[in-house]
Amino acid sequence: MKTYAMREVNNELYLGNIRLSELVKDHPTPLYVYDEAGIEHKISQFRTHFTSKQFFCETIYASKAFLAPYLCQMLEKAGFGIDAVSLGDLYLIKKSGFPLAKVVFHGNNKSDEELQTAIKERVGLIVVDNLNELKRLMTFAEAVDYPIKTLFRVNPGISAHTHAYIETALLSSKFGESIYDWDKMHSLAKLYQESRNVKLLGFHAHIGSQINTPSSFVKSAQTMLNFMAKFQEETKMVLNTLNLGGGFGIKYLPKDKEIKLPEMLTKIVKTVEKGVKEKGLALRTLMIEPGRSLVGDSGFTLYRCGGTKQTFGHKNYVFIDGGMADNIRPALYQAKYTVGVANRFNQPLSNQALSYDIVGKCCESGDVIAKDVVLEQVEEGDTIIVFATGAYCYSMSMNYNGLTRGEVVFIKDDQIKVVIEKESLDQLVSTCVFGG
Ligand code: LLP
Repeated sequence: MKTYAMREVNNELYLGNIRLSELVKDHPTPLYVYDEAGIEHKISQFRTHFTSKQFFCETIYASKAFLAPYLCQMLEKAGFGIDAVSLGDLYLIKKSGFPLAKVVFHGNNKSDEELQTAIKERVGLIVVDNLNELKRLMTFAEAVDYPIKTLFRVNPGISAHTHAYIETALLSSKFGESIYDWDKMHSLAKLYQESRNVKLLGFHAHIGSQINTPSSFVKSAQTMLNFMAKFQEETKMVLNTLNLGGGFGIKYLPKDKEIKLPEMLTKIVKTVEKGVKEKGLALRTLMIEPGRSLVGDSGFTLYRCGGTKQTFGHKNYVFIDGGMADNIRPALYQAKYTVGVANRFNQPLSNQALSYDIVGKCCESGDVIAKDVVLEQVEEGDTIIVFATGAYCYSMSMNYNGLTRGEVVFIKDDQIKVVIEKESLDQLVSTCVFGG
């Protein structure tokens, strides 16, 4: 479960040249750590394998997985776009210096302010979720004289075989409009045809997250191409862009199936190349929106063990100085993680080894990061590592029980870069009204 540039020397884990048990002496735990070379490696996989001679292939990073200004700069250098979903995302991305013209703006319930900001800031593409939103966008677009480029989000009705909370394209899903709802499709075509400056470039579909079955992506691509061909035929509108969303899975446990990203990407491109030819579509741009697969397995969290406990009922606990506030995924999705002791890694287990539940410090029995982890006896002060926490952990972190959000560092060779500082107590209470 090691990251790209992680290695083990004398039973100690290192990232680049940095010993992790030393790192936590100068940086507060829980500490989110990213392997910068690992992210660069993923970027190069997308650049190498998501490419075609028939159309442009654009990788749009889904920033909901993890967003920091430093990452925006890495993505800009790579020529990637960024998917944003709120004013807050847009604000951070703009402040980082990343061009908003390369942003794809999402959301199933965009506020008026969000739509107006996206128009004013000339965000590259707006993904319209529904007819009501399209009407509101058109009203706001009246105020400007430049084209507003959009995709329309549709639901292709494909099961992605993932956790129900992260399935997004079942017929009951809240996102987009169904490709089978032709009344709505005709209404939206009419609205676009009547609009002076809101342009429909094509369609967007996202079928879910942490998907391990390449066939789901192939099916989504084929379904979308069939749908686009039919839409063109029925409405005589010409479309040039298809965005297939994100959702590529990563490994969380050693026993998880290996997901071969290069093969998955090649398969998607080949499927689209074939479909475009067969249907005579004038596709100019194919987009994907990976979040987790770009950062998830290059990130990990370090905690300090505050001690262990054996209950009267013989249950063993490792207490870590974080938990559900910095990683809600086990509580929310029953997500499983690989856990180790960074300062005594890979020692052969003795007969003193114990089975532990790794638990956090929140006042919740459900604050469990991993269950039944067999480790050599854990001691107070050990550096506990939880692997593959690079996606949807920091970004979903919270302040429950007055916990402050953790520091985030990027490491490459012997460089440690703090990209997000630990939230201070003053920042924690900065929105409270005192003495009023
Ligand atoms: N595009 C759209 C429109 C999305 O809604 C998402 C994720 C992505 C792209 C990126 O998906 P990815 O490549 O990261 O799978 N919090 C959940 C995952 C929620 C995903 C939401 N949408 C989790 O922790 O598993």
